[in-house]
Amino acid sequence: MQTITKEYLFGTIDFKSLNQNSEFKEDSVREVIILPILKELGYSQDNIVRSKTLQHPFLKIGSNKKIPIKLIPDYSLKVAENFAWVLDAKSPEQNINDNDNIEQVYCYSTHPEIRSTYFALCNGLQFSLFRRESTNRPILFFNLDEIEYSWEKLAMYLSPSSFQVGKYFSYDTTSATAKPGGEFSYTNRPLLEEIPVKKQQAKRHFGVHGYFTKQSWNIVAEYIKNFSKPNDLVLDPFGGSGITAIEALMNNRKAINIDLNPMAVFLVQSLVATVKISDLALSFNNVKNEYESKEPKTKEEINKALKKYPYPKGFILPKGSDVDTVEELFSKKQLAQLALLKSIILKEKNKNIRDSLLLMFSGLLTKTNLTYHSSSVRADGGGDSAAFRYYRYRIAPRPIEIDIMKYFQLRYKKVVDAKKEMSYFINDNTIDNIKVLKGTATNLSWIPKESVDYIYTDPPYGKKIPYLDLSVMWNAWLDLEVTKEDYDQEAIEGGENYKDKNDYNNLIAQSIKEMYRVLKYDRWMSFVFAHKDPEFWHLIIDTAESCGFEYIGAVPQKNGQTSFKKRQHPFTVLSGQLIINFRKVKNPRAILKANLGMDIAQIVIQTIEGIIAKSEGATLEQINDELIIKGLELGFLDLLKKEYTDLTPLLLEYFDYDDETEIFTIKKDTKFRTHIDERLRIRYYLLSYLRRMEREGKPSHFDDIVLSIIPLLKNGTTPENQTILNVLEDIAEHVGEDRWRLKKEGQGNLFSY
Ligand SMILES: C[S@@+](CC[C@H](N)C(=O)[O-])C[C@H]1O[C@@H](n2cnc3c(N)ncnc32)[C@H](O)[C@@H]1O
Repeated sequence: MQTITKEYLFGTIDFKSLNQNSEFKEDSVREVIILPILKELGYSQDNIVRSKTLQHPFLKIGSNKKIPIKLIPDYSLKVAENFAWVLDAKSPEQNINDNDNIEQVYCYSTHPEIRSTYFALCNGLQFSLFRRESTNRPILFFNLDEIEYSWEKLAMYLSPSSFQVGKYFSYDTTSATAKPGGEFSYTNRPLLEEIPVKKQQAKRHFGVHGYFTKQSWNIVAEYIKNFSKPNDLVLDPFGGSGITAIEALMNNRKAINIDLNPMAVFLVQSLVATVKISDLALSFNNVKNEYESKEPKTKEEINKALKKYPYPKGFILPKGSDVDTVEELFSKKQLAQLALLKSIILKEKNKNIRDSLLLMFSGLLTKTNLTYHSSSVRADGGGDSAAFRYYRYRIAPRPIEIDIMKYFQLRYKKVVDAKKEMSYFINDNTIDNIKVLKGTATNLSWIPKESVDYIYTDPPYGKKIPYLDLSVMWNAWLDLEVTKEDYDQEAIEGGENYKDKNDYNNLIAQSIKEMYRVLKYDRWMSFVFAHKDPEFWHLIIDTAESCGFEYIGAVPQKNGQTSFKKRQHPFTVLSGQLIINFRKVKNPRAILKANLGMDIAQIVIQTIEGIIAKSEGATLEQINDELIIKGLELGFLDLLKKEYTDLTPLLLEYFDYDDETEIFTIKKDTKFRTHIDERLRIRYYLLSYLRRMEREGKPSHFDDIVLSIIPLLKNGTTPENQTILNVLEDIAEHVGEDRWRLKKEGQGNLFSY
């Protein structure tokens, strides 16, 4: 590889005397300094746009001085039809650190016709490069006579290959690359396609204890298996009810679970605490017997018990609650009975057994209070505390009195079932592999840098749930302290502390920086996104990118039953949450934002074709979700909403639709209009062909297959027969003399999850 030196780039120029040389002005800087740099970075005449006049005048941002703005950046550098960065040339006597000069180029970069990620200034002596989101300091600054020391970084940020246009539909599926026994490589993990939710099938999570917005365990497990290897360390710093950490251990990984909410930490710690089931049974029976012998039932007994046994007093409930304090959430009888039960549990000496009993007690609290709404559909005492269901302490219109011991016994059964289910993977031999700690995601200083192999996390989503406020009932009963610092660190908007969007954004950004620090290179972070506001998407992506993460792609993923969604207005509702996947790499590529001149129709068609190819046909919901992702990635969601108020006419014009399956496909016997990964196209046509033959009961011979699909694949270059054969072998099997049949579900890797 050629070493880039100043002599190689600029010849024998004497930098020391440049600013004394009255002949060497801005145009010389352009010719002699900038042009060779651009060429060496890999830009050709086609993607160097000189002195572009920008159409819309606008005012300078961030100060009350309104200086007139020249709307002609010297260089706008294009990659894949988007502007990747802008550069302004100055003469050697001008100061490129001057604020007005910097602001001017910043304005070019934010202009709707440009929207570049980076902007740069060069005066022939120095070069400075800024990221648009953080303009107070350049990300690179060097003297041109020492360019060799900074070249690698410059090329890493600015060469055309350092940019991407968002998620890319590739041929690889989990199943295709993660063949049993196949090589696992962190560098080439596929994105997962949507996984069906199986919330209720794991006793270790379902029915043990409620929490707010639990992730579905099977989805988290699939992510862990896809992005990490056995024995790897998995982190969730917004761990909640511990799904990530527990699933990591259930799949032979190690885990760190962090949460700020003591109740959440207690739930996970007590759930994984190892106990001998026979000892737990013994202790439970002792508690039960003692309770039954002392249960306060009459008014007198109740009053006596209230004096004797401690219960939470004076804990203030959040604004908007129907009553003021925790104790008002209970009838006197409930308070007395719960207080007695807790005092008996606390007598247990063995910590793990005591905690396991307290976990049952805490689960019982969820039902034994005046906000408990029973469920008409579930017979097992199902239903919810209002804090979990309405995110508010709302007294039920008809509170139900339940028999405490009956439900405590049910809690016992659930916790025992959970512990039994986990015991093969989480036991005395493995318990050191899980760390469950109270702490803040914004400060992981106790975790060494580059020590974690995978992060799956699901942070709070803005205003929706003030976790600490809403957990006050459980924390108070469990004697778990919540400090002022906890409230300060909680990443929410609103709440009792009146946090604003800025506070929230800063906390999330800080946590992303910490996650970046602790993750090893080439490893992945999956970040659940369930926010309504596109601005939050950009905050996550921009923060992650400026730390050094590379965005790989977002995937729609439901987390439970979806409620009815209004489909008349596309691009306003996602059908579920998104999982955004990043990788920490040495040379991350930056996503390009679409500019005004971008051909949106082309991007829309390409996205639809991409999801159709990937999913072998796509529903309106899938198409809508992918277009939202594209709109978010390229920053044109607003424009999409405006220009495509109804997608149907476009879909019907360009695609076939099957009324029965409600699936859109590529029009029969036509080619893809846009550029889609070659092997993905081959797979799409092969599947269609083989299915048709199967329906018609005809045999499929290789030559016939090739003959039939080749015309549809001609798109510049014609694929080789070998490529077609490779894809065919993935999806079909040889039967008899040169006949091919689609692999059955579960048999091939293609269809199995
Ligand atoms: C969406 S919930 C996670 C739910 C979890 N995925 C589950 O399945 O149970 C977000 C969690 O972040 C926690 N949290 C809020 N701010 C935090 C912070 N600064 N550090 C750590 N955890 C925080 C909340 O207490 C809450 O449990």
